[in-house]
Amino acid sequence: MTVIVPTMGALHKGHQALIKRARELDKEVVVSIFVNPLQFSDATDLERYPRTPETDIQVATLAGATEVWFPNYEEIYPTDPVQISAGSVGDLYEGASRPGHFAGVLTVVNRLFEIVKPTAAVFGEKDFQQLWLIKNHFKKIEIDAVPTVREFDGLALSSRNIRLTESDRAAALIISKALNEPARMQEILATEPDFKLDYAEIIDEKTFQKASAITQHRRAIIAGWINGVRLLDNAVVETNS
Ligand code: PAF
Repeated sequence: MTVIVPTMGALHKGHQALIKRARELDKEVVVSIFVNPLQFSDATDLERYPRTPETDIQVATLAGATEVWFPNYEEIYPTDPVQISAGSVGDLYEGASRPGHFAGVLTVVNRLFEIVKPTAAVFGEKDFQQLWLIKNHFKKIEIDAVPTVREFDGLALSSRNIRLTESDRAAALIISKALNEPARMQEILATEPDFKLDYAEIIDEKTFQKASAITQHRRAIIAGWINGVRLLDNAVVETNS
């Protein structure tokens, strides 16, 4: 039996938490590292995506991976891939800004599952919409979720953080600050001139639609850009906030 941790590499402590969780589930843990072109709508973003294979092997092995797998394009897509539809939720939020993104994600995850045949797979809550869509699509494999790992000051770990300058990084803290005060998040985000907002919303975790007054499980989701680097984050909204 095998647990898979699908990644696109540039591994950091957030991925290590996924791998550690996978090791708790099973003694065989495959970490796949594949930068999936199908989920990028922007060629420059794909080209610029950080690639650190040597470090990735060390990071994954230290965290407990028993196999670090770097499939090539032909292995994943031996024939022209028929993309899996991500449905209407796939067109919201991240999907609205990155058309076809979630179809690309579901398609690659499906191929990884077909090849590795895992009993379980571990994903991060950081990409909450992705996690939601994967959980809703793959019903026969246990999908395990791990909370977002943050720096000491609240910044959510992301492979894209490598591209932030020191001042970009300081500006990025506005996202976790806004998540701490969901009722005022738009207002708080607007105080940071370097943050270009894409969306900031409170959604119903069950349906991924905008939360209403009676929604029980609410989550605040935020995405935007700092100096051209796309950042996203989310947090549970406590009932009394
Ligand atoms: O979250 C990611 O790194 C990717 O979207 C995933 C799940 C590995 C699919 O390429």
